[in-house]
Amino acid sequence: MSASVPASVSSSRSLKIGIVGFGTFSQFLAKTMIKQGHSLRATSRTDYSQLCADMGIAFFSDVAAFLGADNDVIMICTSILSLSQVLRSMPFTALKQPALFVDVLSVKEYARDTLLQVLPEDSDVLCTHPMFGPESGKHGWRDLNFMYERVRVRDEETCSSFLKIFEIEGCRMLEMSCTEHDELAAKSQFITHTIGRFLSEMDIESTPIDTKGFEALVQLRKNTESNSFDLFSGLYIHNRFAKQELKNLEFAFEKLKHKLLKRNDEEQEVNQ
Ligand SMILES: NC(=O)c1ccc[n+]([C@@H]2O[C@H](COP(=O)([O-])OP(=O)(O)OC[C@H]3O[C@@H](n4cnc5c(N)ncnc54)[C@H](OP(=O)(O)O)[C@@H]3O)[C@@H](O)[C@H]2O)c1
Repeated sequence: MSASVPASVSSSRSLKIGIVGFGTFSQFLAKTMIKQGHSLRATSRTDYSQLCADMGIAFFSDVAAFLGADNDVIMICTSILSLSQVLRSMPFTALKQPALFVDVLSVKEYARDTLLQVLPEDSDVLCTHPMFGPESGKHGWRDLNFMYERVRVRDEETCSSFLKIFEIEGCRMLEMSCTEHDELAAKSQFITHTIGRFLSEMDIESTPIDTKGFEALVQLRKNTESNSFDLFSGLYIHNRFAKQELKNLEFAFEKLKHKLLKRNDEEQEVNQ
């Protein structure tokens, strides 16, 4: 793993970026890409033609026409659970020329393997995970983590131009393998989402006497709920390291409960 020095802003090239899956997260990314002067087009299961028109983005309901639209980069932003189905239904023969395919899924081994299985061999592949979202990145992306692996890159110039989008915004650029990412993300992001969902199941609410710690928990619940349940499920189903982390959580909960009950019994004996 290495943190690289931000590249110069001036050498950035304007890219034609096609977005597959125009949901919450890609709409969030698109705003910054437009601000930087890139030209965007999108396709999605849902008809986003009005929203896209408002944002100055060409929307294609016809996927073949989208693929034929001279994209330098095709950014895959579908849910983790729909990735395989979405990719396998795309008519790649409609591609005008080889493109750089970039995915932004929150699980990386699965995304890498699926992209390599499905995409034409002459397409380049860059796997990425911006470790932030519309909530944590609402005031800018400075110092937020951006993980990536150059999985199959021959056109270095296009790949660097794409990475520069995040460098320019001040992200911490972290080059690491998809496997290393999944192992670390299971121990950090998956735990965060699971605790957040847990607090949501408990329906925790702010009280008039909140401590700072509890305020943080209420905020965690809110942030977690702003993501789809599909996203959370994908973090578990398609990250092989998440299974063990869920077991670790269960084990830790039982261990802690046991310690408390034992201490409670000891206290009662002393006071009898
Ligand atoms: N939210 C974040 O903070 C964040 C951060 C980093 C990475 N990511 C990744 O970014 C991707 C998008 O995340 P998200 O937050 O926007 O929510 P999401 O629920 O993970 O994905 C929503 C997107 O998936 C598409 N989709 C879902 N089911 C589909 C199906 N059966 N067929 C075709 N398309 C389908 C939706 O299309 P329609 O909108 O057309 O229905 C929408 O574009 C995910 O892979 C996620 O892991 C998210």
